[in-house]
Amino acid sequence: MISIALDGPAGAGKSTVAKGAAKALGFIYVDTGALYRTVGLKFLREGYDTKLNCDIDSVLKTIEVDIKFIDGAQHVFLNGEDVSEEIRTPEASMMASAVSAKPPVRAFLLEMQRKLARENNVLMDGRDIGTVVLPDATLKFFVTASVEERATRRYKELKEKGMDVSYDDIYKDIETRDYNDSQRDIAPLKPAEDSIMFDTTGNTLQESIDKLITIIKERLN
Ligand code: DC
Repeated sequence: MISIALDGPAGAGKSTVAKGAAKALGFIYVDTGALYRTVGLKFLREGYDTKLNCDIDSVLKTIEVDIKFIDGAQHVFLNGEDVSEEIRTPEASMMASAVSAKPPVRAFLLEMQRKLARENNVLMDGRDIGTVVLPDATLKFFVTASVEERATRRYKELKEKGMDVSYDDIYKDIETRDYNDSQRDIAPLKPAEDSIMFDTTGNTLQESIDKLITIIKERLN
């Protein structure tokens, strides 16, 4: 099986680029952030805030996360309920970041991600795919873009979905999440030593997709 790890900060265009490239290559696109969001959603629904002053393990025991591919698109399920849309709110984003810093949560989701890569050719998008989840991935990319560009992209994306959001809030959210994700003790966001740096600033998404496909094809040959 071929596995391609794509790590990088929120909003760098990773998911769109990875989706486009996965389709062209005939690989499954796995969005691992959605798994953390699904776990985060359960904590939100239980009424916890991002301080997570609770017994994480006992909440995890009440959670079953599933991932299914419907017409090629990934759907995530929380205890059997399709929550693929609900996990996209800003509240769910902050909670995903909070739960992802907790070691029991990372351990809870680890095997599921590895199994997907054992059974399929995957392009897996996350923060620690090349460093922790798939250290032996066939290829590893670290995808980045400036904070301004990432905030602008996320703002447009949420607006297009009809959500009432402000650019300043999104900018601050991204900065906070970058900080949390890169400073945490467990699986911090950092490029794997053998990853290829891929900066999408100034590219259209299509340009980034095309560039990524070109590099992947060159490297796999
Ligand atoms: O990629 P995203 O924005 O949907 O990710 C949501 C949160 O989950 C983000 O704050 C970081 C965390 N995450 C993680 O810690 N490890 C991953 N492999 C994927 C996401």
